[in-house]
Amino acid sequence: MARLRVGVLASGRGSNLAALIKAASDPAYPAEIALVIVNIAGTQALARAEAAGIPTRLIEHRTFATRAAFDAALDSTLREAGVEFVCLAGFMRLLTPGFVAAWRDRLINIHPSLLPAFPGLNTHARALAAGVKISGCTVHFVRQETDSGPIIAQGAVPVLTGDTADTLAARVLEAEHKLYPLALRLVAEGKVRVIEDRTEIAGSVLDIAGFALFNPPER
Ligand code: GRF
Repeated sequence: MARLRVGVLASGRGSNLAALIKAASDPAYPAEIALVIVNIAGTQALARAEAAGIPTRLIEHRTFATRAAFDAALDSTLREAGVEFVCLAGFMRLLTPGFVAAWRDRLINIHPSLLPAFPGLNTHARALAAGVKISGCTVHFVRQETDSGPIIAQGAVPVLTGDTADTLAARVLEAEHKLYPLALRLVAEGKVRVIEDRTEIAGSVLDIAGFALFNPPER
């Protein structure tokens, strides 16, 4: 079966991009990374994609007069490359309603919290300030409101005594690197159905009925 042609948009470190590239390096993985677009020159994400031999494009948002013009450039570049599906991986630009509508249900994002808790920036500091005992990450379809949209998959990690935003971020990031390839696989296999504001995942992905993650533990 033809692999889903995925474009990744990134702005920074690119560790989630690297996780997707690694997953897609297996020919049995149902998606291939056809193009990586970055909006800032010299980012690690760009270097990672180049090192993996993946086609890259630098589209600098600051060279465009409007968001709409920038997004139009993104859109046409993705289409010219035959991209069918887009993953945001640390892409630090707000997308216009036109772009979000054009790629509806073909555009996903990863966010480092258990949405709908803590959308937006400074996620981990806010989670710590709120005193939550479990945090995690979410892969979701993109809707207009930042970090909103039908949830595809989530991964949970404990918040530990003494955690700082950095130590919690590192723990969540490890989960992100597993979750994003997993979520993209499910989508590429056609197992994810969007129903209004939610998704349904075909087949039983996990058989852990009765499982619960407790922090502090039960004993
Ligand atoms: C990740 O924590 C992701 O959840 C958030 O931005 C960060 C990007 O990190 N959207 P990286 O560029 O993938 O390393």
